[in-house]
Amino acid sequence: MRRRMIAGNWKMNGGRASLKEVERLRAEFADTPCEVVICPPAILIPAMVEALAGSSIMVGGQDCHPDVSGAYTGDLSAPMLVEAGATHVILGHSERRALHSEGNSLVCAKASSAHKAGLAAIICVGETAIEREEGRTLAVIGRQLRGSVPAGASPENCIIAYEPVWAIGSGRTPTPPQIAAVHAFIRGELVQRFHPLGGGFRLLYGGSVKPLNARDIFSVPDVDGALVGGASLTAAEFGPIIAAACL
Ligand code: PGA
Repeated sequence: MRRRMIAGNWKMNGGRASLKEVERLRAEFADTPCEVVICPPAILIPAMVEALAGSSIMVGGQDCHPDVSGAYTGDLSAPMLVEAGATHVILGHSERRALHSEGNSLVCAKASSAHKAGLAAIICVGETAIEREEGRTLAVIGRQLRGSVPAGASPENCIIAYEPVWAIGSGRTPTPPQIAAVHAFIRGELVQRFHPLGGGFRLLYGGSVKPLNARDIFSVPDVDGALVGGASLTAAEFGPIIAAACL
């Protein structure tokens, strides 16, 4: 049985005032049967950890550098995230792949570093609109999986998020059969590569998950939860998504 996971990706949004949203979630979901992780801008991690002390809601980063320390102005390492109180880190998000030119081998190195530091990595994969139109969705995702997921990955330290680039922030989502086809493909790849552990990895869907479509998405086979962007910023929207997955 895979435990469902709902992860919130605040991206470059929110400040100290937003911690009241987290406090509301904390009161509402004191003890959820699934895992809830919120990934705020890194500077908010310690305050969010403090705001959630004693609850089962966890806090994660949105990126880390592959090295532990060094002359990398502006970067953060996995052990630094751990020291701040993070338990997870999102890696290979399409915004970082596109806007920071991150390739699969860099994402893989970051994931290995995260694992070494004791963080669980949420590794993102997904096709662009053009790649889907050209019928290359599964080829692209296969390449991303093979290149970005390190050999040391396990169901404990690695979660895969399928996020079609064209669905992120657009209000458009794939149909349930389209999500099912990609998740079945990802499952097959993991089963093949990580035998006998492949069946244990959690697969999240991400891209315009909202309270109104969450239930339909969670009923798709092999969808073990969601990576939520915009709708994770307020308790009013994130709460019902968590409830749809966990209650
Ligand atoms: P969205 O973002 O829910 O705002 O579409 C998802 C993501 O980028 O992780």
